[in-house]
Amino acid sequence: MRQALFQPGSIGRTELKNRIIYSSMLLRSSDGRGHFSDAAVQSLLMRAEHGAGLITVPGLVSRPAADAAYGLSASIAEDSFIPHLKGIVDGIHAAGAKAMAQMGARGTRMAEGVRTVAPSAMRFAYEDAVPHALTIEEIQIYIREFELAARRAAEAGFDLLELHACTGKLVSMFMSPYSNRRTDEYGGSTENRARFARELLEAMKRGAGRNMPVVVRMTVDDLLGDLGLQVDEGCRIISILDRAGADAFHVLGGTQEKLWNISAGYFQPEGVFGPLLAEVRRVTQKPLIGMGKLGRPELAESFLQKGLADFIALGRPLLADPLWVEKVRSGDEAHIRSCIGCVNCLSFASRKDITPFGVSCTVNPGVLREPAYAVLPPARNPRRIMVIGGGPAGMTAAATLARRGHCVELYEKEAETGGQWLTASHAPYKGAYRTLVPMLRRDMDEAGVHVFCNTPVDASLLKERRPDLVVLATGAVPQGLPPVRRPENDGPRIVQGNDVIMGRAGDCGGRVVVVGGRYVGMEAALVLAGEGRDVSVIDMEDIAHGTNPRLGGKYVSMLAEAGVKMYPRTPLLEITRRGAAVSFCNAFVELPADTVVLAVGVRPAVDLVPVLEAEGIPYRRIGDCRNIGDALYAIREGADLGREL
Ligand SMILES: Cc1cc2nc3c(=O)[nH]c(=O)nc-3n(C[C@H](O)[C@H](O)[C@H](O)COP(=O)(O)O)c2cc1C
Ligand code: SF4
Repeated sequence: MRQALFQPGSIGRTELKNRIIYSSMLLRSSDGRGHFSDAAVQSLLMRAEHGAGLITVPGLVSRPAADAAYGLSASIAEDSFIPHLKGIVDGIHAAGAKAMAQMGARGTRMAEGVRTVAPSAMRFAYEDAVPHALTIEEIQIYIREFELAARRAAEAGFDLLELHACTGKLVSMFMSPYSNRRTDEYGGSTENRARFARELLEAMKRGAGRNMPVVVRMTVDDLLGDLGLQVDEGCRIISILDRAGADAFHVLGGTQEKLWNISAGYFQPEGVFGPLLAEVRRVTQKPLIGMGKLGRPELAESFLQKGLADFIALGRPLLADPLWVEKVRSGDEAHIRSCIGCVNCLSFASRKDITPFGVSCTVNPGVLREPAYAVLPPARNPRRIMVIGGGPAGMTAAATLARRGHCVELYEKEAETGGQWLTASHAPYKGAYRTLVPMLRRDMDEAGVHVFCNTPVDASLLKERRPDLVVLATGAVPQGLPPVRRPENDGPRIVQGNDVIMGRAGDCGGRVVVVGGRYVGMEAALVLAGEGRDVSVIDMEDIAHGTNPRLGGKYVSMLAEAGVKMYPRTPLLEITRRGAAVSFCNAFVELPADTVVLAVGVRPAVDLVPVLEAEGIPYRRIGDCRNIGDALYAIREGADLGREL
């Protein structure tokens, strides 16, 4: 067991049974009228029941509905919301944990039609609309409303409050010289830029009573270099808030301008904010909460042991595995389902087809369906099932079916399981992705799945095995060249982006044009640029379109730094003898190339469908061979089918 993680501790007057905090995780699941959905409440309570010492009730809206984040948060803006929140707090207490109410204000990136606000009217990189600069009177309204909200939180029985002053949302925007260009008493000096946060903190204390502990969750460095707030000044603001009565600090860096810095995706190292904690430790005696990619128990424990932090906040590690705390306590860390940093949980809005609507998790399809997923009933009618394809969909289905008592064989044509994920996880910055296949493989082995690699399935194998049912999970294959003219026996080589990423595309020459600017195209371009080649990426739409915006921006900045030329909204017209002819700004432009790399998507691999139909073998399709998607869909479909059969 990890000793430090399970020591009791306290923040202000509130005692916690251990050092593990379920970080604020707004699952975007509410009734749209200021109440969390039942599913969101059950999800929170499950994290309390399984051992976290403190549960953060996320993103409570302290102002009337118009300020709600996408209309999908819960409100604390009126007394009528107190009973709903009290019900949640009572549930958390009954599970043996303490409850913290997080209060903040977004400012920008609001629901469509909602006015955006900021300290100053300026254009941000992430949003077209220029926000309205709050007047002093409007600032005072926020302060009054936070006081009232804090009073309601106390009435609902919360044990702590958290002021959200981070990630480039409204309160942290005021602290930053990048986003705060005011010349009144809320702008200019450090003292002035800290004023809004300080007055909100004091208002929360007034509203909830001086003994109510208030944690400040604060961006102490914008990670924008000398354009923004830097840690030395961030520490001076910590001192101001310390003197104003803050009871603990929850420390992080980054703002929305570089969205990837606040998303803790695969680009960021584990324990990414450790150095900021060390700086803050120098200026305050108050407890510090460490956060950001601390899901490896050994690392979380070491943050406590080294004195970097007094508490550990875990967001996605507990989303990915609600049993994390119990597994660590019982020494079963090998079975933790690790977060892979894909940030799919932050792209809920593009997944309107997932029910119930809200956040989901790639490695845990049970999010927002916790009660149903907590049990895995045995199969009523155990069958002999053949799963064809060893990617994430097939492996998940196979393990789930076998755990339920079906007799399952999985066939993979390649030498190892993983499917397209082996390519998706190959880049050097995707170490977290490389943990997925071993996890899924272990699930299969423990469930008793019989795995046959190097074994393509054909009609004769199907006849020999004669399964009761086939689960077809054969994935997808890369699309070929779009229908454009191309010289016969001449012109540039044409290779697939996947082959470039996997290092099997051969010599691509000095000049390369990559067709397609999504993940595969961008990663292939980075590989080629890293080899010193002259690389251009073209796409009919924007570069990085359709990728997660929390990752896409990072790719675009990496491409720019690597000297890759990017041509958005540039269709390929034809392959010429010298390279690729494109329509750029409506002009015919010929980009010279020794090699053209195709990264134009994939199509379902369904060659076995006619064979199965001819043999009369019942089958179900999951993952990309049913509908092109990503690993979140693949694993979800595998898990759902595994439960259904
Ligand atoms: C789906 C999701 C929702 C989140 N909602 C909030 C929120 O409402 N307020 C907040 O301060 N942080 C929010 N976060 C950030 C997390 O609390 C956490 O700080 C972040 O994910 C990094 O920590 P982790 O690596 O432990 O996940 C959210 C993160 C995710 C993935
Ligand atoms: S969706 Fe991805 S980033 Fe989010 S918790 Fe799950 S594995 Fe982690």
